[in-house]
Amino acid sequence: MTDKILVAPSILSADFARMGEECESLEACGADYIHFDVMDGNFVDTITFGPAMCKALRSHTRLPIDVHLMVENPIKYIIPFADAGADIITIHAEADKHIHRTLQHIRAQGLKCGVVLNPASPIELVKWVLEDCDMLLLMSVNPGAGGQSFIPGVLDKIAQADAFATAHGLSFDIEVDGGINPDTAAMCREMGANVLVAGNSIFKAADRAEMIRKIRG
Ligand code: DX5
Ligand code: ZN
Repeated sequence: MTDKILVAPSILSADFARMGEECESLEACGADYIHFDVMDGNFVDTITFGPAMCKALRSHTRLPIDVHLMVENPIKYIIPFADAGADIITIHAEADKHIHRTLQHIRAQGLKCGVVLNPASPIELVKWVLEDCDMLLLMSVNPGAGGQSFIPGVLDKIAQADAFATAHGLSFDIEVDGGINPDTAAMCREMGANVLVAGNSIFKAADRAEMIRKIRG
């Protein structure tokens, strides 16, 4: 786990016609990661973008690209995203019958790997793979769209994950995604989260750099 709090703006809320410039702006505004939301119209209803967009954006930013795969059978997309320049890939526990195998496959490409839990999914679902994860991503909204309200039940799950990491001497990052603004970010940091994803709050802000600073706390 990094000691610093990291902010990962989600380009799901960006202007899709100007994605390159949007990534450049986020880097200039002090973002730590580019959060890249991939939706397949199957695991969630929406369809967003895939490896070709990741490859196109690679030349517009030096920031790590944090790929959040909201897709069924994510193992099919690991090599394409590794080839496209992704740095971190997270997969949903609910979308893959063999998460341990997929996590190993991500690491075998030299990338960081992580597992994601929907708001309703218990930490027990992934406890025994956390030693093989660089990151645990806890959804604080139901995946599929930006601009939803933060679900407070995630706070207890953050605390459980943090306690599990301490008890087992693990150091995975705890990332939270959905409805993050300066207030909900503070609550998540307090419970032990260290990577905060934010879409709407950053892209709607008059001053993106200031919003990133406020979320970082
Ligand atoms: C939801 C996505 C999130 C979302 C965050 O399915 O994974 O990354 O875009 O957007 P906000 O911050 O607007 O809730
Ligand atoms: Zn996301």
